Amino acid sequence: MHLQTLSGQHIVIVGGSRGIGLATGSLAKQLGAEVTLISRDLEKLNLVAQQIDGVRTAVADFSDETAITTAFADLPPIDHVYVAAGSFVGGHVLEGNMADFRRAVDTRVWGSVHVVRAAVPKMNGSGSLTLTGGLSTDRPVAGAWATAVATAATEQLARALALELAPIRVNAVSPGWTDTPMWDSVLGQQKQTVFGQVAAQVLAKRLSTAEEVAQAVIFLMGSGTITGEVIHIDSGHRLV
Ligand SMILES: NC(=O)c1ccc[n+]([C@@H]2O[C@H](COP(=O)([O-])OP(=O)(O)OC[C@H]3O[C@@H](n4cnc5c(N)ncnc54)[C@H](OP(=O)(O)O)[C@@H]3O)[C@@H](O)[C@H]2O)c1
Repeated sequence: MHLQTLSGQHIVIVGGSRGIGLATGSLAKQLGAEVTLISRDLEKLNLVAQQIDGVRTAVADFSDETAITTAFADLPPIDHVYVAAGSFVGGHVLEGNMADFRRAVDTRVWGSVHVVRAAVPKMNGSGSLTLTGGLSTDRPVAGAWATAVATAATEQLARALALELAPIRVNAVSPGWTDTPMWDSVLGQQKQTVFGQVAAQVLAKRLSTAEEVAQAVIFLMGSGTITGEVIHIDSGHRLV
């Protein structure tokens, strides 16, 4: 396949209504793919459908296996899947709420497994699945241990499933600090200050954009042979 075309390919993105997932859906559409975006909020999906001509949308929470199975059941055959859904869960291990900690893992890890189980029967033994880990696998932050455990487990899930699902390829992207709506809710008014501190620290001297992470996802889809891999898009943050 030519790297710059996804013509004739059906790409499903779980967590596609904003941020990195939406950037991936937009890029895939520009490259000629048929795109399906899945997330929880119908209103957000309807807005996106008005902006991206011809995109298909479906509502499902990926932590709910039945909802994900139902959403995938209605879809035509699938070539590639990207699981972007997930969120930052903070909290000190001795002080935080156990339900929140469980949610960090339940969503990212079990949610990814739900998507894999629903998608693979529709993939005709080829194509790719890309999961999302994160910088916290290699650079855990005090006060966000649950997120670090969840990203590490998801990256390992990609490697383990690459063996089980071959020749379907399974990879993960591991974003560093990326300017998306997720940080508006987590950092609020502190966002620009924190982003400035991170930019000063990392090798590339700026944060990644959602579009730059999307390019890595599309690259993994376009490769015929990369599998069991984790691609870091982190401005060199793991090294400093
Ligand atoms: N931004 C960063 O700096 C960064 C760094 C490392 C890793 N990551 C990871 O990269 C992924 C994308 O991040 P982002 O910054 O683009 O996040 P975002 O802006 O918050 O977007 C997350 C997307 O996932 C959907 N989603 C969230 N929970 C879901 C669920 N339970 N079921 C179905 N859809 C769900 C959201 O839509 P609804 O809320 O409408 O469902 C939204 O479309 C996440 O896994 C995040 O943890 C991000």
